[in-house]
Amino acid sequence: MAPNTKGSSSAAGPTKVPISMLLSNEEQTAIGILPASHWQQQFTQEDPSDIFSSRARTASLTESIFQYRHIHGRTYHSDIGNAESWEPNDERHIDAMEIAHHAYTVTMEHRLYRAPLDKNKVQKVLDVGTGTGLWAIDFADEFPGADVVGTDITPIQPSWVPANVKFELDDCNQEWTWPDNTFDFIHARMLIGVIEDWYEFHRQAFRTCKPGGYIETFAACSTFECDDGTVKEDSAMSQWSKVFNEGGRRFGRSFEVYDHDLQRKGMAAAGFVDIEYKDYIIPIGVWHPEKETAESGLWWKLAIEADLEGYLNYTFIVLLGWTPEETKSYGDQIKKEWNNPNIHGYVRARSAWGRKPE
Ligand SMILES: C[S@@+](CC[C@H](N)C(=O)[O-])C[C@H]1O[C@@H](n2cnc3c(N)ncnc32)[C@H](O)[C@@H]1O
Repeated sequence: MAPNTKGSSSAAGPTKVPISMLLSNEEQTAIGILPASHWQQQFTQEDPSDIFSSRARTASLTESIFQYRHIHGRTYHSDIGNAESWEPNDERHIDAMEIAHHAYTVTMEHRLYRAPLDKNKVQKVLDVGTGTGLWAIDFADEFPGADVVGTDITPIQPSWVPANVKFELDDCNQEWTWPDNTFDFIHARMLIGVIEDWYEFHRQAFRTCKPGGYIETFAACSTFECDDGTVKEDSAMSQWSKVFNEGGRRFGRSFEVYDHDLQRKGMAAAGFVDIEYKDYIIPIGVWHPEKETAESGLWWKLAIEADLEGYLNYTFIVLLGWTPEETKSYGDQIKKEWNNPNIHGYVRARSAWGRKPE
């Protein structure tokens, strides 16, 4: 049978158009189709008023960005400056981060932010260390009139996103290249073990925030507490913060953000005013009697268990020098503890926000 070249569908699915019938660039242009390269050029044309035009200022998306480093069977971001992340960037970890996004929003009572934002005024938004980009996407849906840019050192964000969202590769520990007074809202969630200097981070945020604009950060503490002695001193839960906090010290990127109140101190030192905060209790596991709090703890447990190896790998094996087998045994033990309804461990987390004076 002669091949069908009319592009009709059959029961077996759409018929392929032979290559010889594909339109040349000139033919596509003639019928009004922009060349495919147009969509890449969009990112490189510099327009100083456009927050999405800063590719040239940050890293360009070259092939090398996708040459990930392999550490103990997992992949991590490629070399970008001296950036260093303790979290893998492979599918398994992306899945866990997506569940974590849900866990964080459940903890925040199904909110994406707490700062008193005016929906009619917010135009430009920055999400630092955006990860999977789900916060940026959800925020852009909620604020259709705002342009949201999410930055990270690893390109794991989806490409099908609302028109008012863009992602860029950028190391937030380097000098920020955004012009002064750019953003109405700067957001950073769970950048524990990420920021080298929380005071410098807030200075850069203050400079690039518009007068009257807001910053908000969310960070969890690594220390498991309990009110009834069920988290024992030698338990895996008690060890968790010891290992992560020491790892952070070796790494030069602290996990003790909550412990040292770095969110509010950083904001105040930079000049933000009207600083407020809200603390949360996260009972990682299944034991809490109140439904909402228990739900939050369950989602955190699911997120961590979705890739416990990925959460432990770098800190335990690379920074602390444990063997993979030792790390796995530790992981098995902590899972047992937070799945035990008689162990009532919880961690704390904090949302903090502040305003740049007019
Ligand atoms: C715990 S994840 C949080 C992701 C996201 N903010 C969220 O709440 O879902 C930390 C993110 O920080 C990114 N990161 C690590 N070092 C960074 C740096 N120097 N600059 C920007 N992002 C960085 C990691 O790649 C990772 O995506």
